[in-house]
Amino acid sequence: MNLHRLDKYAKSLIKVAAGRIRSSFATDLLIETKSEANDLVTNIDKETEQFFIHHIKRDYPDHRILGEEGFGDDIHDLDGYVWILDPIDGTMNFIHQKTNFAISLGIFKDGVGILGYIYRVMDDDLISATLDEGAFINDIPIPTVKQLNLEQSIIGINASWVVPNKYMEHEGMVKLLQKVRGTRSYGSAAIEISYVVTGKLDAYMSMRLSPWDIAGGMIIAKEVGAIVTNLANEPVNLLGQGTFLIAKPGLHKELITNYIHLK
Ligand code: IPD
Ligand code: CA
Ligand code: CA
Repeated sequence: MNLHRLDKYAKSLIKVAAGRIRSSFATDLLIETKSEANDLVTNIDKETEQFFIHHIKRDYPDHRILGEEGFGDDIHDLDGYVWILDPIDGTMNFIHQKTNFAISLGIFKDGVGILGYIYRVMDDDLISATLDEGAFINDIPIPTVKQLNLEQSIIGINASWVVPNKYMEHEGMVKLLQKVRGTRSYGSAAIEISYVVTGKLDAYMSMRLSPWDIAGGMIIAKEVGAIVTNLANEPVNLLGQGTFLIAKPGLHKELITNYIHLK
């Protein structure tokens, strides 16, 4: 398998899919709910996933696809080539704001991330990475992340953890808020991860993400030296849901040691 050819192919699929998403603004969206009232999906999420699957199955028939909307394969291992796709990450933003959503894609070979992509559709910014060859924004190299202390950091965090909740001791989060320079919440895990790898955020954490939210971002993170684990400081599981933390190296250690206390 020629990695550069596969990279070119994946990028062209992403760009065409994004053009289709942008064109959809001229049509009426069909909005449905999934697991609960605020878990939304549209006909465009589904059509975008089907678009990828149609092309990948035609051009790389032995590759398997894990997609959020379930049109791909039933994946229980990462043997061979596996594409992990979120056709629209930030569907609520897509519906309500028509911005702040992304296509997120990671390609793995026998469990090793080889190509990663986050495409911020409305900004036309494609963040990509190739294993051991670095990360890029619109094909311009992204430098490795710079160390920063907590007092100078901006952290992507969900406001609901600062009040008592069932997942995390909220006192640690209150303490964190008092220490950091600022917090942000963008409503798309892929966009937040893309901001950490490009230095717009210094860390981002979440209580529950799925493989398709993080697969592309994890591969990019490795190339820029950002640390990715779950909130218990263990490797992230790409075959199920879990907690998630991406941060600059020193910051990652400090967050895990002093602020994140899971229940
Ligand atoms: C969601 C977004 C959101 C995160 C949720 C995800 P979706 O993905 O990434 O930021 O907090 O956990 O499910 O549903 O818009 O693809
Ligand atoms: Ca998602
Ligand atoms: Ca999605």
